[in-house]
Amino acid sequence: MTFEEARSQFPVLERYAYLQAGSSGPLPQAAVDAARAWLGRDLEQGRSGMAYIEELGGLRERIRAGFAAVLDASPEQIALTDSTTRGCQIVLAGIGLGPEDEVVTTDEEHFGLLGPLQASGARVVVVDADEAALLAAVTPQTRLIAVSHVLWTTGQKLDLARLKETGLPVLVDGAQSAGAIPPDLGGADFYTLSAQKWLCGPEPTGGLFVRDPSRLPVGLPTYFGQAGHEPDGAYAPRDGARRFDSGWLSGPVLSGLEASLACHPEWRYEAAAAMAARCRDLLEPLVEVVTPPGHSTLVSFRPLGDPKELVASLDERGVIVRDLPRRNLVRASCGWWTSEDDLERLTQGVRAQTQSA
Ligand SMILES: Cc1ncc(COP(=O)(O)O)c(C=O)c1O
Repeated sequence: MTFEEARSQFPVLERYAYLQAGSSGPLPQAAVDAARAWLGRDLEQGRSGMAYIEELGGLRERIRAGFAAVLDASPEQIALTDSTTRGCQIVLAGIGLGPEDEVVTTDEEHFGLLGPLQASGARVVVVDADEAALLAAVTPQTRLIAVSHVLWTTGQKLDLARLKETGLPVLVDGAQSAGAIPPDLGGADFYTLSAQKWLCGPEPTGGLFVRDPSRLPVGLPTYFGQAGHEPDGAYAPRDGARRFDSGWLSGPVLSGLEASLACHPEWRYEAAAAMAARCRDLLEPLVEVVTPPGHSTLVSFRPLGDPKELVASLDERGVIVRDLPRRNLVRASCGWWTSEDDLERLTQGVRAQTQSA
């Protein structure tokens, strides 16, 4: 697949320099066609019967295999969820922490991880976003290290293997890494993904990797996670990480996601990294770029003027990026689909603000 062929799958890119996959990626036409076809069939033939249940089950398994390929894991280690947040909730509900326990995390995490950490009942120890600070914060009370692989704010990538050297369980928020950078679980025990971002799926879709499913109790049971149950609710969990599956996930959304998973070319990771590097090169003469080189596909920068005003003026030029609240940063997300022209348009908009500041 050439770059032009691959890019032409996304109609939104004909209109905008769409640099927002860190929130929601561009949708391929095939995903929308598949979702429409599924809905049309629901409309005309109903949503029940053996054939329907079998088709939905098959679709769920194909997506499980697709997520496994993205994370370089086994399908047996993948649960289907609706989001990264849900993946974090599933893990924390299963581990079962209390007020005597500590979890160590960074000061650059998204609420999708922080909210579940707070709700776990453990003491949340927040340190600077670097490996040495995380390791130094570990005490005999620490039960879990919970971090993003790529920080949603600065785009910094953390060295998961170094954190795993503690021997503690490691929960990784993979929202900004899965599908964006080459897979590297780094020995993590749990790794979440959001499929609406770098995998270009419809929302809400997500997955959860569990290294050893039999060792994590099921904290959020669902009908889809059980293989048979008694009148009092006692039940046998399904094999592998299927036991952690979220409940009913929308058929149209899942069939759209299957098409999204198939839209990525082999050269996805090299191309995305090259465009992020190009974006840095273009912006560095104009603004302070805070993302360290070579870490991720996010490029966060501190504009000379007001970040919100810059985002609004870029929007008027058809360039879609976001600001990061309380940090005075603007974030551009570069995918394998990003073109030189997209980045030129971003640069022109940033230059215009810089000149008027
Ligand atoms: C690092 C990070 N974690 C979690 C989330 C939340 O993802 P989801 O909506 O899939 O729960 C986001 C969304 O932007 C994110 O950037």
